[in-house]
Amino acid sequence: QATSIPADRVPDMGKRELMNLLLLGAISLPTGIMLVPYASFFVPPGSGGEGGGIVAKDALGNDVIASEWIKTHGPGDRTLTQGLKGDPTYLVVENDKTIATYGINAVCTHLGCVVPWNAAENKFICPCHGSQYNNQGRVVRGPAPLSLALAHADIDDGKVIFVPWVETDFRTGEDPWWA
Ligand code: FES
Repeated sequence: QATSIPADRVPDMGKRELMNLLLLGAISLPTGIMLVPYASFFVPPGSGGEGGGIVAKDALGNDVIASEWIKTHGPGDRTLTQGLKGDPTYLVVENDKTIATYGINAVCTHLGCVVPWNAAENKFICPCHGSQYNNQGRVVRGPAPLSLALAHADIDDGKVIFVPWVETDFRTGEDPWWA
């Protein structure tokens, strides 16, 4: 009873709806107009478009050409490239000398150090607090709480393209924590 609003103070329904409409319009209209140039500004030209993919860049900032990469990176190789959002991302060469269809984001899920590949141990081992990840980036020792993020590594027009990985994490069978 103490919380009930006196009848004369309940706003007239029609008026309230009108105000909601005006408010909605005031917010959504300018936002809708601004979104178009904003979004297109951030899609790099020639990125292949729709899926939000970007061309992998090597250490010198050049586009990664798959056929060239294979010549200089042997089976089992894991080398850092620049991936989605500029994140350091390992390009993986499979034993059959093809580029793996996934790239491994090198940012440690503990506190964000870049995790080096240790070929002798066949693991990624974080120098900061000792977290370890297997050769596909699945966490095998903490303190890192999660596996390294994945990105699709597609080949388009001869170039390696990283595309956001939003599907199930094939290493854990779980939803991707990074998507
Ligand atoms: Fe990698 Fe802490 S940042 S273990």
